[in-house]
Amino acid sequence: MVEPFSAVDVIIAKRQKQELSKPQIDWVIDAYTRGAVADEQMAALAMAILLNGMNQLEIVQWTNAMINSGERMDFSDITIPTVDKHSTGGVGDKITLPLAPLVAACGAAVPQLSGRGLGHTGGTLDKMESIKGWRADLTNEEMHTILRDVGAVICAAGPGLAPADKKLYALRDVTGTVEAIPLIASSIMSKKIAEGASGLILDVKTGNGAFMSDPAMARELAQTMVNLGKDAGVNTRALITAMDVPLGLAIGNALEVQESIEVLQGGGPADVRELTLTLAREMLEIVGISTDPEEKLDNGQAFDTWKAMVAAQGGDNDAPLPRAKHEHTITASKDGTVTSMNALAVGIAAWRLGAGRARKEDQVSAGAGILLHKKPGDHVSIGEPLFTMLTDEEVRFELAEQALAQAPITIGERSEMMTQLPLIIERIS
Ligand code: URA
Repeated sequence: MVEPFSAVDVIIAKRQKQELSKPQIDWVIDAYTRGAVADEQMAALAMAILLNGMNQLEIVQWTNAMINSGERMDFSDITIPTVDKHSTGGVGDKITLPLAPLVAACGAAVPQLSGRGLGHTGGTLDKMESIKGWRADLTNEEMHTILRDVGAVICAAGPGLAPADKKLYALRDVTGTVEAIPLIASSIMSKKIAEGASGLILDVKTGNGAFMSDPAMARELAQTMVNLGKDAGVNTRALITAMDVPLGLAIGNALEVQESIEVLQGGGPADVRELTLTLAREMLEIVGISTDPEEKLDNGQAFDTWKAMVAAQGGDNDAPLPRAKHEHTITASKDGTVTSMNALAVGIAAWRLGAGRARKEDQVSAGAGILLHKKPGDHVSIGEPLFTMLTDEEVRFELAEQALAQAPITIGERSEMMTQLPLIIERIS
């Protein structure tokens, strides 16, 4: 086949800060997907994009080319509005678990295609897989049936959805080109648009435990993604939310499932409940449903939908969640107020305890992680538990403690409290 462009010319054009044309973008994405553009060429182009950026038109065209590399899902058989959520990820971010059944209990359909964790942030599928029997891999037919019957489904994206992104994301991961706003926005939104929901809420996290720690970058990413969604006819909004301290008290797969169940039963930590309800209200407003989600959380209907959703995917609602073999609790060395806690350090510690993976091929431990007994602002007395570490391999305690020593949890006077980001920082629509 005679190729209409040369990869080297496209790389040089971007290196010279030129705007790439639609034919160039369509070709480079298609040629890369079929192997006619080599990994090293795409890596050079990704680096040129990271350094020189892309304008809005190029980002739209790049996103469309990635969508067109695979299949588009079609939910036209679902008679109620479909609405989806994406979070850029953070420590203890289990919100999808209570949110999907809650929004479904309010009358929308939630097709939640999710991923696995890599690094210090956990993945929704890893969390759900700590439920005995639960299956992440569904056929398109199974997914539609569950969505129709239950209203919510959390499952893995099939290989046919934006395959160009799968290849490009793996390449960016090993070439220092992840942190480019045009590439992140097009990567996330190509999958979300191809998924075909009519509405979308984005939870863009900022703070030390987030992928975008700088709030200005988080805002730019959120606005770029909202623009892409709207351009594609998906009613999209974004919230910028705090990830400077862990969300909730549980960090780790089964621990986070347990905390999500508590929220679905009307309890749970205040920040997890508040963020779940805020995102649910946004999702319902996007699709024009006026039901109050708080009522569905407190009257048990959201929990009933959760149980139906888990059972539909083979999960055993009655089986106890796995718990790690070893536990070690750290207690307060003095009386005072917890003045600081760093989400990144806690996330890395949980990962080292076995809750996360360093390479895609690694297994995660379902029961490992950290349970916080105190959060910043809480009073603590000497000898009281501060946090508990859980692992299947005792040698990991030391690794986790080393991670926490980088940014220790401190106790002092209330006046010494670190400034904390508000949970909901900004709304972008
Ligand atoms: N998540 C994605 O799906 N893509 C990115 O580029 C970054 C985070």
